[in-house]
Amino acid sequence: MNPRQRSTLLDTDSRLGHRLQLRRTAGQVPRHRLGEQGLQADLAYQLVHDHLMLDGNARLNLATFVGTWMEPEALQLMQECAEKNMIDKDEYPQTAELEERCLRILADLWNAEDPDAAVGTSTTGSSEGCMLGGMVLKWHWRQRRRAQDLDDRRPNLVMGTNTQICWDKFCAYFDVEPRMVPITPERLHLTGAEAAARCDENTIGVVGVLGSTFDGSYEPIAEMQACLDQLQERTGLDVPIHVDAASGGFVAPFNSPELVWDFRLPRVKSINTSGHKYGGVLPGVGWVLWREQAALPEELRFNVNYLGGEMPTIGMNFSRPGAQVVAQYFNFVHLGREGYRQRMASLESIACCLADAMAEMPPLRLLSHPRGQLPVFAVTLDPAVSNWTVFQLSERLRSRGWLVPAYTLPASCEQIAVLRFVLRAGFTRDMADQLLEDVARAVDWFQRLPSPMPEPVGSEQSFHH
Ligand SMILES: Cc1ncc(COP(=O)(O)O)c(C=O)c1O
Repeated sequence: MNPRQRSTLLDTDSRLGHRLQLRRTAGQVPRHRLGEQGLQADLAYQLVHDHLMLDGNARLNLATFVGTWMEPEALQLMQECAEKNMIDKDEYPQTAELEERCLRILADLWNAEDPDAAVGTSTTGSSEGCMLGGMVLKWHWRQRRRAQDLDDRRPNLVMGTNTQICWDKFCAYFDVEPRMVPITPERLHLTGAEAAARCDENTIGVVGVLGSTFDGSYEPIAEMQACLDQLQERTGLDVPIHVDAASGGFVAPFNSPELVWDFRLPRVKSINTSGHKYGGVLPGVGWVLWREQAALPEELRFNVNYLGGEMPTIGMNFSRPGAQVVAQYFNFVHLGREGYRQRMASLESIACCLADAMAEMPPLRLLSHPRGQLPVFAVTLDPAVSNWTVFQLSERLRSRGWLVPAYTLPASCEQIAVLRFVLRAGFTRDMADQLLEDVARAVDWFQRLPSPMPEPVGSEQSFHH
């Protein structure tokens, strides 16, 4: 036996020993209590690694808006920054500087009159950005009411029922009445007229969504501003807008530069976005910006040390990982405007091809088309189909590895069940062709059924993302 063969055998032996030890110890590690003794790091790694093997494949996950792919160089930077805490600005001033640069870049991208005068923060995601945006709307409203000696106990926030769940959370956590405008099968998002009609003296603001979570469509923010202007002329009510651009904040500036939705509109006081959606960063980083310093009250800023001085912080969390902020800056430097433009154009074009091809499959009906909106679309079934549902189609696609969620639309449209496809960086034309083939095969299989599929218990879901 030569030395190479001997060393391979030894390797195999030690791996076998390792495996055996893992099998012996794994059974003894309590799952829901802290074990008395720990495991060696390599065994602990293997145990956790093996446990995770049944998770879905992130690249085939068409359910989430959140990034699942980054360049290897970005991953390397993130690893180099894994131990950096965003709040330690004095200790990691270079990371703090990158956060500041990202904020200026976003203020410029969203057409702030003076990008250097805009104020904002990175967050853990859009939900935190929305909480902060809503909290500031409430604070301003209450100050105005108190200054006039008026009742300040019943604030409300106007939005469509298509808003993401973080806005329900905001209203519950901050004691604000959610004034939800129902969507209809013909109108799957809020309009300016509907928004203005729900406002009164207790309205802290209107939420406009740039990229509805349900179908990827953009709400008409400029129209909202026009209707709120008319409302002010008629009644004197001056209602601000917060734009929830969780997804669209990184898509519209590149795919639809002519669309006016951002700080060009004076009523838009604040905007949030998720760096970890179309910003192209792995979870979790978000951003929230106010158009000018005066829009963010002093009372809501808190100071931390920064190079011997003081720096305001705004976020909900104190500690937060710095790696994602660094990765965001990496994307800005690496992609530039042209890189983002190309990425968004390519996603839109792949999404359009997919949507057009699915529209050609008779029982599928396109609910929204990705042209000029997020690279996202939803399909529903022809009402004549009675043997199967989109939930069963979703299950069948899952057996091929695709994660495509099916759900019913919110109140007043809950009779409509849809399958939603979200395309993100890393989704290629080859993958689209494969997906289309799998959808076509599944639809064909269902269409040949002689009788209805059995209904699995509790399969229908309402909306989560
Ligand atoms: C419109 C909208 N707002 C807010 C959120 C919440 O974002 P995050 O997951 O970054 O907290 C989402 C998530 O999908 C969303 O689509």
